[in-house]
Amino acid sequence: MHIVFIFSLSMVPLMILACPINFGYVRNITWYDPTCFNASSIVSNESKCCHTIKSLFSLGLARHLNVSSMFLLPDNHTSVSCLKDFQVELGSLEVPTHWVSTCLDAEYFVSSPSFCDRIESLDDWFRIVGKKTSINYYCKDNLNLSDYHCRNCLTAIKLIHQNGLMLIDHSKGESCLLLTQLYAAGSVNVHGPESKDVASCIFQLNGPIVNMHYHSFLTKHKYVCRYVILPSALLLVLGAWISFRDWVIRKCKIM
Ligand SMILES: *[C@@H]1O[C@H](CO)[C@@H](O)[C@H](O)[C@H]1NC(C)=O
Ligand SMILES: *[C@@H]1O[C@H](CO)[C@@H](O)[C@H](O)[C@H]1NC(C)=O
Ligand SMILES: *[C@@H]1O[C@H](CO)[C@@H](O)[C@H](O)[C@H]1NC(C)=O
Ligand SMILES: *[C@@H]1O[C@H](CO)[C@@H](O)[C@H](O)[C@H]1NC(C)=O
Ligand SMILES: *[C@@H]1O[C@H](CO)[C@@H](O)[C@H](O)[C@H]1NC(C)=O
Ligand SMILES: *[C@@H]1O[C@H](CO)[C@@H](O)[C@H](O)[C@H]1NC(C)=O
Repeated sequence: MHIVFIFSLSMVPLMILACPINFGYVRNITWYDPTCFNASSIVSNESKCCHTIKSLFSLGLARHLNVSSMFLLPDNHTSVSCLKDFQVELGSLEVPTHWVSTCLDAEYFVSSPSFCDRIESLDDWFRIVGKKTSINYYCKDNLNLSDYHCRNCLTAIKLIHQNGLMLIDHSKGESCLLLTQLYAAGSVNVHGPESKDVASCIFQLNGPIVNMHYHSFLTKHKYVCRYVILPSALLLVLGAWISFRDWVIRKCKIM
């Protein structure tokens, strides 16, 4: 009885600290950005890879908004454990680990009324921005990149971001834009945050069509190729050449 009690008590901090987001989608969706895999890319929070990493992480926040009605994470510990989980998923694709710490700051993703116009939950959004905005109309369904659908949704996001939000504090541009994107991706679009439409249009994760499972297969096999198959093949050719040379020398001596 006591043991069970102590056991459940010791589980409490673990449950509070666990990240509520499953970042498995990182290996599933199409987001290939060569700058995140290039060892000689310049590591800076302004780089193209950071834009990609932020967008990828935002997809998880949009999913979190959909299930919890909260835009950001409840506290710093949760945010830190989310960045760790996220890094593990990226690491499984052989993305160098420095990108997460360079591009994302755990404290930034902690829910706070000062993040943007006192908006922390969907209810706050409805109260301050409204339930029927142009985003609800233009970002609801098809976000086809090659025609006007995606463009209309992005325009709606821009207008709501500029006119609906940022009324009080104009320094919160980036924060308010994130909330607006999360709303469109996590609450409005019927196909959900991990859909191709949302990822490519709202978060601009539109690299070439590469299945990330396949990509990690290729990177693993690139190493096998470089360090095992190629040297073996060279040795084989060298060996064959030496035997051939010896055979020719022997033949010539006999003749
Ligand atoms: C990844 O994709 C597969 C097949 O489309 C699906 O079964 C699986 O649930 C997806 N996983 C995640 C974490 O989205
Ligand atoms: C990697 O980055 C370096 C420096 O930016 C660049 O010169 C090179 O072409 C890149 N390689 C690939 C494969 O993208
Ligand atoms: C990059 O980091 C610097 C220094 O920490 C900071 O002032 C700047 O706002 C950051 N830029 C972005 C785009 O996060
Ligand atoms: C959040 O956690 C990180 C890592 O443990 C720590 O460096 C940072 O100071 C914490 N921030 C706050 C506001 O507690
Ligand atoms: C997207 O729009 C283009 C041009 O109108 C069209 O050819 C294509 O079939 C559309 N794709 C989807 C998935 O609806
Ligand atoms: C979650 O997403 C679905 C569409 O995928 C949407 O119908 C639902 O309203 C969303 N939930 C919330 C709380 O926004």
